[in-house]
Amino acid sequence: MSVRLAYASSVLPALSGAAYGAPFQNALLPGGIQADHVHTLWLIMLATCAVVFAAVFAAFLIALWRAPRATEETSPQTSRTTGAERGSSRAVAIGAALSTAGLLGLLVASVVTDRALAGLPLKDGIVIEVNGLQWWWQATYSPGDPARTFETANELHIPVGKPVVLKLQSPDVIHSFWVPNLAPKKDLIPGHTLTLALRADKPGVYRGQCAEFCGYQHAKMAFLVIAEEPAQYEQWEKAQRASAKEPADAAQKRGQQVFMESPCVMCHTIQGTAANAKNGPDLTHLASRTTIAAGTLPNTRGHLAGWISNPQQVKPGTNMPAVTLPADDLQALLTYLESLQ
Ligand code: CUA
Repeated sequence: MSVRLAYASSVLPALSGAAYGAPFQNALLPGGIQADHVHTLWLIMLATCAVVFAAVFAAFLIALWRAPRATEETSPQTSRTTGAERGSSRAVAIGAALSTAGLLGLLVASVVTDRALAGLPLKDGIVIEVNGLQWWWQATYSPGDPARTFETANELHIPVGKPVVLKLQSPDVIHSFWVPNLAPKKDLIPGHTLTLALRADKPGVYRGQCAEFCGYQHAKMAFLVIAEEPAQYEQWEKAQRASAKEPADAAQKRGQQVFMESPCVMCHTIQGTAANAKNGPDLTHLASRTTIAAGTLPNTRGHLAGWISNPQQVKPGTNMPAVTLPADDLQALLTYLESLQ
């Protein structure tokens, strides 16, 4: 909860601007060992390229400085070359040798990084199946283990210090799962299950973003990875596995009734109720999430109301249809949805 509040207080004010979540999406601030490897490789490449740039620029300045100056008495030079330039073949040979050495060095660094990324110990890792959909992320924890599995959307919680194995899938178009602070990019290719292993070593809220153009709302296909202390994670996991809270009062009860009688029930699941459709995000613990519509809006009552009433305004092209309800029913529905902690 504290992470969520910290995120809310530091970032949500910026939501209306273009800078949404920017501080949390930075490959130069690694929050885990996989991103550390990528960061090191980036530093090596930056240093190598900086040296090459400086050397080329210095050679260029020296060449300018040493070029023969013409005076009024110099006869115009019409031939392209006047014999072999002194020392030029030696300079070319040295340049070629240094370039080859530099490129080989980068190749070795890249291979070493790749091996380091693949070498993450996965013992006792948490498995999460991530399905890239147009345009949101469906996450199934511990798939294939009925006692532990549960589903959520657009917000992953992971324990600090423990490996996480993401099984990436997509039913139709290519998406790309990218949390720069935690891991390199990985595409989701229809028909294949690709694996991405990562480990967060620093607690924090890391923003991720789909990094492959996947249609109209590709830009609004974000997610959060919330890395928290193992005890806190266990608590979250336990709460997520539970069925939805029963309505606690008349307003919530009315809201649940509105939900069951509205088109909501055709697409969404709320565990513990009759709603079990799979076309949209699982709403069993909707109120525990920080954002709605895949990172598009903060999860507040007002935004939820706007999203339900006119989703095309927020995210044109989304599969979520507008649900028009009498004001009283909408308020009851919001009260119920807000109770789904
Ligand atoms: Cu999914 Cu871009």
